[in-house]
Amino acid sequence: MRFSPLRAAGALTLGATLATAVPQAQTPFLLPDNNARRLPSPSRPLQWGDINTIATTDTHGWFGLPLLQPEPNYSGTWRDYASFVTHMQRLAEEKDVDLLLLDSGDMHDGTGPARVVSRAHEECRTGLADGFPPGDVDARASGEFFKQIPYDVLSIGNHELRVYANTLDMHTNFAMHYEGRYLTSNVNITVFDEDGQAVSVPVGSRYRKFTIKKSFSGQSGAESNGPRGRSVTAFGIMFDFTTNAVNTTVQPVEELVKESWFLDTIVDEPDLFLLVGHNPVEGRSSNWQVVFDTIRKLHPTTPITIFGGHLHIRDCVQLDDRSMSLASGRYMETVGWMSVDLDKDGTGPLNLSRRYLDANPTTYMYHTGTNEDTFFTDEGKNITEGLYELEKRFGLTYQYGVAPRDYTLTRDPYPSNGSLPSLIAEEVAPFAISTNTTRVGIPFVLIVSTGSERFDIFKGGMTKNDVLTTYPFVNNYFYVADVPYAAATAILPTMNNDGPERRQQKIWRQEMEVERGYQHWLAAQAAVSVSSDEQLTLGYTTSDSCPGIGDDIPHAPLPFYAIPSFTASRTPDASNAVIDLVFDDFFRDQILKTLNKVQSARVYTLEDVVQYTQIRSNEVLGIYAEHNWN
Ligand SMILES: *[C@@H]1O[C@H](CO)[C@@H](O)[C@H](O)[C@H]1NC(C)=O
Ligand SMILES: *[C@@H]1O[C@H](CO)[C@@H](O)[C@H](O)[C@H]1NC(C)=O
Ligand SMILES: *[C@@H]1O[C@H](CO)[C@@H](O)[C@H](O)[C@H]1NC(C)=O
Ligand SMILES: *[C@@H]1O[C@H](CO)[C@@H](O)[C@H](O)[C@H]1NC(C)=O
Ligand SMILES: *[C@@H]1O[C@H](CO)[C@@H](O)[C@H](O)[C@H]1NC(C)=O
Ligand SMILES: *[C@@H]1O[C@H](CO)[C@@H](O)[C@H](O)[C@H]1NC(C)=O
Ligand SMILES: *[C@@H]1O[C@H](CO)[C@@H](O)[C@H](O)[C@H]1NC(C)=O
Ligand SMILES: [Zn+2]
Ligand SMILES: [Zn+2]
Repeated sequence: MRFSPLRAAGALTLGATLATAVPQAQTPFLLPDNNARRLPSPSRPLQWGDINTIATTDTHGWFGLPLLQPEPNYSGTWRDYASFVTHMQRLAEEKDVDLLLLDSGDMHDGTGPARVVSRAHEECRTGLADGFPPGDVDARASGEFFKQIPYDVLSIGNHELRVYANTLDMHTNFAMHYEGRYLTSNVNITVFDEDGQAVSVPVGSRYRKFTIKKSFSGQSGAESNGPRGRSVTAFGIMFDFTTNAVNTTVQPVEELVKESWFLDTIVDEPDLFLLVGHNPVEGRSSNWQVVFDTIRKLHPTTPITIFGGHLHIRDCVQLDDRSMSLASGRYMETVGWMSVDLDKDGTGPLNLSRRYLDANPTTYMYHTGTNEDTFFTDEGKNITEGLYELEKRFGLTYQYGVAPRDYTLTRDPYPSNGSLPSLIAEEVAPFAISTNTTRVGIPFVLIVSTGSERFDIFKGGMTKNDVLTTYPFVNNYFYVADVPYAAATAILPTMNNDGPERRQQKIWRQEMEVERGYQHWLAAQAAVSVSSDEQLTLGYTTSDSCPGIGDDIPHAPLPFYAIPSFTASRTPDASNAVIDLVFDDFFRDQILKTLNKVQSARVYTLEDVVQYTQIRSNEVLGIYAEHNWN
């Protein structure tokens, strides 16, 4: 129900359905216009300064959002965002100040529009092909919507660096569109030059020096005779990401700041250093400090604003009192705001402000002084038209069934009826794999990693887009036959005790760091006991280290329950002397190792591992919904 679905007419039957159903022409998704009235409104106008910034990060293709709890608070669509931007640009003109639009990367991998093509590949295999152009590239579809926002500076994310073809598309297509504004200061791609030689070149541009409209006397610098507008030197800096695709290069930030081109670029003092990048603003994996220090050595007081991302949290720090660093959350739930007053030759604290806006039409209308009649722009509506086209092309509203209730990752305890990890491990996966196996009827225990579970399921239609969003990974199921009952049932607690094996999958680990970090952030919010203000709606309650209150709308914290790394299907009856041990191939090595740890009667090897079913992990939710939610 990410794009509020229509109810598919009639029940669908499995087998035939999965293999042959072509996404039907369906009424387009409904946009959550009506939410506007039901949402809490901001009450504090934004602080505007000389330079104002709207910042997004980790959008991961979230162009439309569900209608159900808790999402209305973050239910702005890309149409709404585009409309907001247009009105804010008008306000900046009226106020005679500058407005910059920034994005810090990770636009790939999330919902349907950002996954469409790779998923379509999958479906060619199962016969559910829906005609994406051969040779198309993952997330090119989402890129087209992105391009309709006139960003001033963008940077690349790790999700644009997992597959060479995707990075190449950013290089040849996306970066071209943004003409020098897509900054990849420390990220290169290897391509063939005109002579057929392999060369390493920046994916986008290494830096951007530009002049903004207003000069220090408040006049427009764009006019030829007026004073020069203020100058900005911008970089786009990726954190020290190490599991990027072959033939892409991420230069460690420590090395970047020693490059002579970098040092040359920062010699001249601009009015503002603008650092945008897929890089947490603080913590272990943040690399901003060394960039900041390098600039500060030359320019002790020049204003520096930093716009990071990657950890999917709202965060703000000040590396000194003439700088501010902001992270604007994830999934178009949050739109970040920062303002700064420039004080030419000043040395005291800068007047900086930041705000985390809940991304929804109510927020947008409040801050732009518009209403439902005046807010939505034609360009915004055109984006919705484009989304209609896209969902038609890829059948994103194809509905497998109707979820009877919400299932959440961390807002319900595990195990419980409302827990997504319980649902997947105890119902969905065991059901689906049992529909296609020669081991049918033989008791088994199935081990599932919660790291594959990406987002809550909400009550209502379960569409293809929801499946892509909630449980997208493609893994095969394997099993070891006739494992002694005691050993098979000891696997789960042992693996949870050991934790996911680090050595096994570096990519997985980097991904898990984001998810675990985000969950720690939620847990910290839930742990703060707040006066139970009945008026407050649930949502993010950010506490960061910048002055004042960051959240635009006060919320009560979301309930939070920790989930284990691994979960399992219901344990078969203990009267079974031996049972099948089933698992997906992602953690195969750790499963075998653990199996050899919990028993010593024999040594299990890869030769004992057999494919359990042809069904893969990204299919199980659809199969289950089709059978049980109709
Ligand atoms: C989101 O907004 C709605 C108002 O529409 C509110 O009732 C709800 O509590 C908020 N948060 C969550 C988590 O549902
Ligand atoms: C990387 O690029 C080189 C050319 O420089 C090419 O020979 C090689 O096949 C590429 N590797 C992969 C995995 O694409
Ligand atoms: C990136 O590309 C530039 C331009 O070709 C090259 O000079 C530089 O060495 C490359 N950097 C890395 C880290 O590969
Ligand atoms: C910062 O700017 C705001 C808005 O212009 C103003 O209200 C406030 O007094 C300023 N703060 C300081 C410390 O100058
Ligand atoms: C409308 O959207 C399409 C893509 O869906 C885009 O190519 C076109 O430029 C847009 N037109 C306007 C006027 O925004
Ligand atoms: C959980 O679901 C089961 C089966 O539908 C039901 O019997 C049980 O009462 C539910 N438990 C709770 C606490 O709602
Ligand atoms: C599982 O599905 C595959 C592919 O549709 C089919 O060839 C195979 O016969 C099925 N196996 C069982 C045991 O149902
Ligand atoms: Zn991300
Ligand atoms: Zn990231």
